[in-house]
Amino acid sequence: MFISFEGIDGSGKSTQLVLLRDVLEQAGSTVVTIREPGATLLSESIREILLSNKQTITSTAELLLFSAARTQLVEKVIEPALEQGTLILCDRYVDSTTAYQGYGRMLDMENVTTCNRIATRGVMPSVTFFIDVAFEQAQQRMHFDTGAGEPDRMERAGREFFERVREGYLAIAQNEPTRMVVIDGARDRAVIHHDILAVLRERTSLPV
Ligand SMILES: Nc1ncnc2c1ncn2[C@@H]1O[C@H](COP(=O)(O)OP(=O)(O)O)[C@@H](O)[C@H]1O
Ligand SMILES: [Mg+2]
Repeated sequence: MFISFEGIDGSGKSTQLVLLRDVLEQAGSTVVTIREPGATLLSESIREILLSNKQTITSTAELLLFSAARTQLVEKVIEPALEQGTLILCDRYVDSTTAYQGYGRMLDMENVTTCNRIATRGVMPSVTFFIDVAFEQAQQRMHFDTGAGEPDRMERAGREFFERVREGYLAIAQNEPTRMVVIDGARDRAVIHHDILAVLRERTSLPV
């Protein structure tokens, strides 16, 4: 099974992914956790390029780079793991491209959808959690996160950009309600975690 976490930076994706991974591992499941872009040598190299502030990258180049990183990950890691029946938890996946490059950068949605289809090779998560947090709150959390350092190239986009990204996530959730679950991320970590477990109990046979 394949589960992904979506949301803007600072929404709490990584926090919730780790909490869920711990529960699943304690229940005896083998879990592969992945961050996007990343998890293969090529994808991590592309991540460095994408997040670096050293150069400007056009929106279309950005779309293609994220897609290249993703398809390498799908073919090299996700597909083999799924074939073995391993559980995959992914920190961002294809919805990030729809939300950030489609809605955020306002690229032609047909092109974005085509790139997504090529990159994913049709592999989609069974469940996606969109952790919905207001831009200001996410900013505040990142500000207090001592490990965060300077904002990366993606994080430098302004408030209007992130408002469009949020709109994008909400549109996906509306179009695909059986896959994407909107989670109110403004609440306490433990409460959100509890919600996520409840959704998985209802929708899957995972030992949570
Ligand atoms: N529900 C929450 N309430 C308050 N702070 C949170 C919550 N979830 C995560 N955080 C904190 O906010 C910061 C960003 O969380 P993180 O999980 O790294 O977000 P993301 O992976 O989406 O960027 C971290 O310092 C984390 O400890
Ligand atoms: Mg994170």
